[in-house]
Amino acid sequence: MEIGCGKGGFIRKNAEAYPHINFVGIERNLSVVAVAARRTTEELPNLALVWDDAKKLSDFFEVGEFQRLYLNFSDPWPKKRQYKRRLTYRGYLQSYREAFGDKGEIFFKTDNRNLFEFSLNEFCADNWKLSNISLDLHNSDYEGNIMTEYEEKFSA
Ligand SMILES: C[S@@+](CC[C@H](N)C(=O)[O-])C[C@H]1O[C@@H](n2cnc3c(N)ncnc32)[C@H](O)[C@@H]1O
Repeated sequence: MEIGCGKGGFIRKNAEAYPHINFVGIERNLSVVAVAARRTTEELPNLALVWDDAKKLSDFFEVGEFQRLYLNFSDPWPKKRQYKRRLTYRGYLQSYREAFGDKGEIFFKTDNRNLFEFSLNEFCADNWKLSNISLDLHNSDYEGNIMTEYEEKFSA
């Protein structure tokens, strides 16, 4: 699952590359998710898009129904008083944990230093095990990175 899938490039490329795995993209912005929907062909039966806010995860999923969550270039909400809106805020992390059930993992990418620092602190405060930390993903040993629309635009 990807929360904040935008125009859906990342989740679509995943669905094409891994036809035996089901993917869900959640996006709350209607005009953006509409673009994602238009670009998603019926040849991808393993991809679903949800137009809604990720606050309501328990309305969409049974516990344990998905095992991996992607947060790609999530909105940084830079003002101090907005920290609870950040998708790596511990309140959100707890809701992801509940949705995962026994086990699950989060793949998080950002180019926003403040959000990166905030998120590391939140992951630690909520007892997540960290791995594959990179400050320069594109020049790291990590293989198989699938670029998002945002990532392509700003790394270019
Ligand atoms: C900066 S964009 C990145 C889009 C895409 N992940 C990419 O990398 O190209 C962040 C997206 O997350 C969506 N978003 C933010 N908070 C959300 C939430 N609580 N539920 C669903 N979508 C959310 C926004 O509407 C926006 O489209």
